[in-house]
Amino acid sequence: MKLNIFANPNLLHEAAAQTIVRLLRQKPDAVLGLATGGTPVGIYEALTAAVRRREVSFARVASFNLDEYVGLPPDHPASYRYYMDQHLFRHIDIPPERTHIPDGCAADLERECERYDRLLQAAGRIDLMLLGLGHNGHIGFNEPGRALHSKTHVAILHPQTREANARFFRTPEEVPTRAITMGLGSIFSARTILLVVKGNDKADIVHRALTGPITTECPASLLQLHPRLVVMLDEGAAARIKCQTTQNAFHEPVDSTNGLW
Ligand code: GLP
Repeated sequence: MKLNIFANPNLLHEAAAQTIVRLLRQKPDAVLGLATGGTPVGIYEALTAAVRRREVSFARVASFNLDEYVGLPPDHPASYRYYMDQHLFRHIDIPPERTHIPDGCAADLERECERYDRLLQAAGRIDLMLLGLGHNGHIGFNEPGRALHSKTHVAILHPQTREANARFFRTPEEVPTRAITMGLGSIFSARTILLVVKGNDKADIVHRALTGPITTECPASLLQLHPRLVVMLDEGAAARIKCQTTQNAFHEPVDSTNGLW
């Protein structure tokens, strides 16, 4: 694991964006796994700025988003398709047909999951998977439980997840109860995973996920097993692991992403 702690969120956004820029410079046709939520917004702004400065191009990139709410059409302001268009895709040069997000309105959700897995398989390995972290340790919408899924599947959202995401809806009742999400197998098959977490409210779950036991009750804890995990935290999210870092709890306590690609 490579752990980077940043003094403020802007530095973190810039570093995460530059990690992606460096990858695309070396591999312009890279396959990216992308996340939504509040955390990546600043990263997408920094990427947009890099494209505007012509530092990087997404013309040959293929992207696969982690998840989508069941029942929300692409033009619903809280759908993840809408989010991605607003925060990234419409500002950069990625061809729309190379951007992939599960269709939460598909008539047959099981078939949609299978279709998404076939697309993922056809694209080859994800080069870089950008991940955020839910307060209960979820990644994508892989919620804590007795078992986890390897493939894309329909997930029942945890009440805590619905509550946390209610801020993106007019009323809490509007938050869908289900979502389609990539499974742990697809996430894990990525060459590199970039986990980005901000804010003091995530300090406890960051601590559990990165230093606690590996358990399906905290899906993000499985990331400890990934051979190329890069973690970027702001000071708030790192609050509970800092002392552990100085005690050398990590394989490589503080490092940069240099030499990753
Ligand atoms: C949602 C997404 C996750 C994301 C999580 C945390 O539940 N499905 O992919 O990591 O929110 O979001 P935030 O960054 O807003 O805390």
